[in-house]
Amino acid sequence: MDTLTALTTRVSCPRLAEPGPSDEQLDLLLRAAIRAPDHGLLRPWRFIVLEGEQRERLGDIMEAQLLEEQPQADSRTREIARNKALRAPTIIVVVADITENHKIPAWEQMLAVGAAVQNMMLAAYEIGIGAMWRTGAMANSDLAKSMLGFAAKDQVIAYLYLGTPAIGLKSLPDDAPADYIRQLP
Ligand SMILES: Cc1cc2nc3c(=O)[nH]c(=O)nc-3n(C[C@H](O)[C@H](O)[C@H](O)COP(=O)(O)O)c2cc1C
Repeated sequence: MDTLTALTTRVSCPRLAEPGPSDEQLDLLLRAAIRAPDHGLLRPWRFIVLEGEQRERLGDIMEAQLLEEQPQADSRTREIARNKALRAPTIIVVVADITENHKIPAWEQMLAVGAAVQNMMLAAYEIGIGAMWRTGAMANSDLAKSMLGFAAKDQVIAYLYLGTPAIGLKSLPDDAPADYIRQLP
């Protein structure tokens, strides 16, 4: 698939199966990520690539985050939380390592990392790898950030789930740029 086709037809895939991306494909995705625009060249992006049993460590963090929010969570709820780390063969945790008190504000640094995530999603789509960008409470929890090795000032931008599409990709929404165009008042 060519890049313009990927840009105009990309969709997420919420059901992902083995195999995950190969080492070469992961390298390609990460090289695409670090070509994202980045005001001030602060290089705020950080990536934790989790595959196989490494995902269980993320499951531990998901359970810890749940228990912080719901200390009484029963064993079934805890298991569901842990299993969220096993929903795809590969998960890339993408974090903005924020440089504080800098002329480039934190929101711009976060957007640069968001652009890095989108670059990975597009590259994945172009080479036939399914991808799903997830966040949720795990993106804003100081406990989760700390267990991932980051500080409260940092921002988890994505848990990027990657793998082989296990369901047919959904059809494109009936959407047109004109719906979003505005004129100056
Ligand atoms: C910053 C961000 C966070 C997201 N977090 C979630 C999430 O936690 N759970 C979810 O189901 N979708 C989440 N999404 C949306 C999906 O990844 C997906 O983009 C959306 O369902 C639209 O589908 P499409 O990408 O196929 O157009 C998030 C998207 C963005 C940009």
